[in-house]
Amino acid sequence: MATTKNQSGCWYVEFTVCLIGLLLFPLPSQSSDPDPLQDFCIGDTKSALSVNGFPCKPAANVTSDDFFFDGLSKEGNMSNPFGSSVTSGNVLTFPGLNTLGISMNRVDIGPGGLNPPHSHPRASETGVVINGRILVGFITTGNVFYSKILTPGQMFVIPTGLVHFQMNVGEEKALIFTAFNSHLPGAAVVPTNLFASEPSVPDDVLTKAFQVEKTVIDEIKCKFGA
Ligand SMILES: *[C@@H]1O[C@H](CO)[C@@H](O)[C@H](O)[C@H]1NC(C)=O
Ligand SMILES: *[C@@H]1O[C@H](CO)[C@@H](O)[C@H](O)[C@H]1NC(C)=O
Repeated sequence: MATTKNQSGCWYVEFTVCLIGLLLFPLPSQSSDPDPLQDFCIGDTKSALSVNGFPCKPAANVTSDDFFFDGLSKEGNMSNPFGSSVTSGNVLTFPGLNTLGISMNRVDIGPGGLNPPHSHPRASETGVVINGRILVGFITTGNVFYSKILTPGQMFVIPTGLVHFQMNVGEEKALIFTAFNSHLPGAAVVPTNLFASEPSVPDDVLTKAFQVEKTVIDEIKCKFGA
């Protein structure tokens, strides 16, 4: 009886210590950009200084225009092998986003076109379909594939860093706006990452990774002009 009491007492203490630990320490999995330390910090993208983000433009130089951006108003050029175009509204194109931990993209996809499998290393993504019918899919690190066909007004979410794509499965041009919890989410596009890097990934690595002959790898590299 005494032993049982003692054991459950131990369990209780350990549980309490663990709970306090959880409350005191931030979760290590925080993946979005850090919070800003001032009202705003319009990125001085031409600065020679290199920091984690961009230095702030002097406040006296800031104007209304620094907080507005019309770069997503025009359709992108879809005349490329993927038949799609991504226009970025990130800190590089819209320096007003600097340090705020958010950004948006415009994605235009022609009929049959594809925004090819890619991942954003620094952000989760959410998006809303404006026009068209779009197959949105992503694959988890455990190789489970989740997907759905979306129509205008419908939203999706891609958890941080997972490989995903959007394909136009309708008859019309498709338009999506996407949003990220990073001022510069980054994008690693799987096919070009692996087959069109500079310098190129050795054929031995790719033949082994994909379990195919060198001719197959060379054919794919050739498609990307590598
Ligand atoms: C700020 O404005 C001053 C005066 O117009 C100009 O000389 C300077 O280059 C500007 N600095 C930046 C970072 O825009
Ligand atoms: C679209 O891109 C293609 C291929 O790069 C180019 O030939 C064409 O001129 C571009 N069209 C426009 C309207 O910019």
